[in-house]
Amino acid sequence: MKVTIFGSGYVGLVTGACLAEVGNDVLCVDVDERKIDLLKAGGVPIYEPGLEEMVRKNTAAGRLSFTTDVAAGVAHGLFQFIAVGTPPDEDGSADLQYVLAVARSIGEHMEDYRIVVDKSTVPVGTADKVRQALAGVLESRGRNLEFDVVSNPEFLKEGAAIDDFMRPDRIVVGTDNPRTAELLRVLYGPFNRNHDRLVMMDIRSAELTKYAANAMLATKISFMNEMSALAEKLGADVEAVRRGIGADPRIGYHFIYPGCGYGGSCFPKDVKALIHTGRSVGHAPAVLEAVEAVNDRQKAVLHDKLKAHFGDLAGRTIAVWGLAFKPNTDDMREAPSRVLMEALWADGATVRAHDPVAMEECERIYGERPDLVLCATPEEAAEGADALALVTEWNLFRSPDFQALREIMKSPVVFDGRNVYDPQRMADEGFIYHAIGRPEVNPRPA
Ligand code: UDX
Repeated sequence: MKVTIFGSGYVGLVTGACLAEVGNDVLCVDVDERKIDLLKAGGVPIYEPGLEEMVRKNTAAGRLSFTTDVAAGVAHGLFQFIAVGTPPDEDGSADLQYVLAVARSIGEHMEDYRIVVDKSTVPVGTADKVRQALAGVLESRGRNLEFDVVSNPEFLKEGAAIDDFMRPDRIVVGTDNPRTAELLRVLYGPFNRNHDRLVMMDIRSAELTKYAANAMLATKISFMNEMSALAEKLGADVEAVRRGIGADPRIGYHFIYPGCGYGGSCFPKDVKALIHTGRSVGHAPAVLEAVEAVNDRQKAVLHDKLKAHFGDLAGRTIAVWGLAFKPNTDDMREAPSRVLMEALWADGATVRAHDPVAMEECERIYGERPDLVLCATPEEAAEGADALALVTEWNLFRSPDFQALREIMKSPVVFDGRNVYDPQRMADEGFIYHAIGRPEVNPRPA
């Protein structure tokens, strides 16, 4: 089938590559000429395991192509996916200008029936706005053409996006037209094996489903972070509590890892947007407001602990392991590492940081500054440091040579923002070890 994707960002590219992979003829449209040139040359502007190979293979096979020509895009696909960004406005609501601009372009150029698929995460009611925008342009052209608008939210995790798309646990489609529903069933057929993963519903429910999923996951995390704070006050170990509650299948083991807060392009933005939506319809979502407040507090927790340990941080050197908001991505949007580093800089401390893929991104964000030293290895970052803060649980950090680490650090103090290490082992290795929601074990005397 012929598919056009507007927006060659994260969601658009993954969607385009995966739909081409199963044999569709996909054209990706983006306004950014540099990005399109890079893609045409076989490059991929983001880091996502497996994506570059998939893009190259399908481009070579002629099933995937790229253009900045909007008219060509509208002419190409029966399906017109909208996968452009919806950055948060000042007040936390999603900014729909790019989505609606695509809708208007489709209206300007279409010559026969089109199915417009909202893939971007957009507030409830956006499909109606897309429909109005498109219909308005058709009317001004004096054309009476048929089209449908469908909501088809994505549930991709960064670092696992290809797998999530190719083997989804559900495919949510919101439409009010049974004929369109059938066409989407055909398009998603190759991903809908073993048992029916398509969940068909009305458009508004599909739009809300996306927010509900992310808000629920964020709630689990903030709940556990709340428990970790209580555990610290009460002398309990949140990791034992985690295993104890996770065994109940109604709770489950997933997404109950306490840490130094959730980041990324989705949870913070979507929780904010849903709070904003709730308020705007006269229902302040109390649970979500708390989820956000707890997360803001949690991102400050490593800095609070460092301060509690050292008192004044001016002139101190702190090693930071992990800059990305989670492993297997170079994405630093809303990353806890940023809150920590910025607080340390404000205190007059120096950061020596290592991340296996996000250092370029870090340099792009912060530029060169004397109080930030980006180091080629984790060990180099730890050299001469007063303390080490582990912020992202990359595999590379899981089993360091602790003796060597102790020797290169100025003092053996570790703040573990992801509860990666065993407190007893750390004490045995001679470290003062602070984790999240875990009792401290006194180190053996040197
Ligand atoms: C998320 C959703 O998982 C995905 O379905 C949606 O489409 C987009 O948002 P992503 O932002 O890529 O995906 O990352 P995810 O793996 O969900 O992690 C989000 C954040 O939560 C990370 O900062 C991670 O460190 C944190 N987290 C996750 C925890 O602190 N504890 C956990 O138990 C799980």
